[in-house]
Amino acid sequence: MTFGKGKIWLNGKFVPWKDAKIHVLAHVIHYGSSVFDSVRCYPIRGKVAVFRLGDHVKRFFDSAKIHHMDIPYSQKNFAAAIAKTVQVNKLKGCYVRLFAFRDYGPMGLFPLKNPLSVAIAAWNWGQYLGPESMIKGVSVKVSSWRRPAPDTHPTMSKAGGNYQNSQLMKIEAVQDGYDEAIALDTAGFISEGSGENIFLVRDGVLYTPPISSSILPGIRRQTVVALAQEMGLKVLKKALPREFLYIADEIFLTGTATEIVPVTKVDKMAVGSGVRGPITEQIQKCLFDITAGKADDRFGWLTFV
Ligand SMILES: Cc1ncc(COP(=O)(O)O)c(C=O)c1O
Repeated sequence: MTFGKGKIWLNGKFVPWKDAKIHVLAHVIHYGSSVFDSVRCYPIRGKVAVFRLGDHVKRFFDSAKIHHMDIPYSQKNFAAAIAKTVQVNKLKGCYVRLFAFRDYGPMGLFPLKNPLSVAIAAWNWGQYLGPESMIKGVSVKVSSWRRPAPDTHPTMSKAGGNYQNSQLMKIEAVQDGYDEAIALDTAGFISEGSGENIFLVRDGVLYTPPISSSILPGIRRQTVVALAQEMGLKVLKKALPREFLYIADEIFLTGTATEIVPVTKVDKMAVGSGVRGPITEQIQKCLFDITAGKADDRFGWLTFV
């Protein structure tokens, strides 16, 4: 099913795509009061496999809890609703968006009297940074926008409001001729992309910023850490100064929409030799073999629907 067609699961019922609407005075429209998550599904031997379904559902419930939202389903039933949405729409490889938002009710900032709506939508969505990005790589700039300080917007929650910051980063990067932006945290350490986590390779060691650098704890990030460790690579989660970007041998971005994308230029400087690096390629292959069903799902990441 393409974007704009099919059925959306809204508060426990499937409704036609065009009818999944909300009121203009819904709380979320005015105050950004929503949380969401995204899941990817892959066609494997005629079946559909959802990638790390339980982990995405858990993070969704965590995001909601941080914002005092009580999702009125168990994680198990909600995961089943995601699987059903993929089936009902007869999708194979697809992207699924799950979200909860404060709906129409009292106006004002105290949100706990507004009803909470929960929805799931699925559609075919290719590579977020373009189909060639996985091989050719992308150019990034260090954003003039910082990620929120830890005591402002909680970045461990995948909350709609956090993406105002991401949009400012992305607009600046695209208008300046780059593909993507990398933000620093408020202490000046490397944080993440507008919708991706970041990894850097130097002298054969893999580095990624820690949770305390205002990042979203990405599921692809956890996935890459597990695969890299399995390959015998040393992985360090530590605060990284900006200049690490300029002396890294390889850099790549990870995310559900993005998958694993090499960064070949930062602030107009070539990363390493200026092309996708060997460790990036090896980690990509390792993941894509699992999601293509070519390698054993030894971590138990696939749920067949
Ligand atoms: C801000 C941000 N950081 C990181 C990620 C990567 O997270 P994941 O790998 O779970 O998709 C995303 C995408 O979901 C994101 O929006």
